[in-house]
Amino acid sequence: MSSEPGRRFGLSGVTPWGRRAFEYEAFFDLSADTLSGTVLDCGAGPSSFSAEMTQRGVKATALDPIYGSAVSTLRADLARAEERIRVAFAAEHDRFVWDFYGDTERLLTTRRQAAETFFSDFPLGQSLGRYICGELPELPFGTSRFDLALCSHLLFLYDHELDLKFHLEALSEMTRVAAEVRVFPLISLGRVNTKGCACATVPGWNSRKLSTSG
Ligand SMILES: C[S@@+](CC[C@H](N)C(=O)[O-])C[C@H]1O[C@@H](n2cnc3c(N)ncnc32)[C@H](O)[C@@H]1O
Repeated sequence: MSSEPGRRFGLSGVTPWGRRAFEYEAFFDLSADTLSGTVLDCGAGPSSFSAEMTQRGVKATALDPIYGSAVSTLRADLARAEERIRVAFAAEHDRFVWDFYGDTERLLTTRRQAAETFFSDFPLGQSLGRYICGELPELPFGTSRFDLALCSHLLFLYDHELDLKFHLEALSEMTRVAAEVRVFPLISLGRVNTKGCACATVPGWNSRKLSTSG
């Protein structure tokens, strides 16, 4: 396995891998109040967050470039990702803190549940405009279209694939379309100790602040 940071975990490219709503709620410290407005999940992939939130009456929209692909392609990509991740976890199990998931099998089961919920909602949701094919750093939405934008396991994590310019433009664009932006995690895939994970809440963070802060 390469020693290059980020490829240590055996992944190249951004992995199409999806989480469930309870995971997002924990990552982003979401409450009924936080979710009372319109919510964008940016880089949502096969996560079931949007599907589950829609079932709860939340006005959720998911955006990802993979939504332009056929379901059969998405399923095949996901199966390949699961195999790669199973191997990577076996090799690097001790790099991770397992308090939240328990063990690898429970984590993989959770991912499969997320994917199945996503796949059952995707055709209808796409026809209703809840799943949008698009990609950062340019979002196909008007200014202040959403109350909250979330970005899970895309920014920072894949800093070996996505450079600083991309990060600045992506964060700036999310703050353009949403009043508040939350990003998780704030670490790179190459980091050895994952205990430093934190949730960033940046209400009112605008593009001018982002560009001057570097
Ligand atoms: C690791 S998955 C995370 C999925 C979901 N957010 C979650 O946490 O379960 C990363 C997702 O980012 C998507 N992605 C890759 N490049 C992107 C871009 N430029 N803009 C938006 N999404 C992107 C991928 O297609 C993939 O579905």
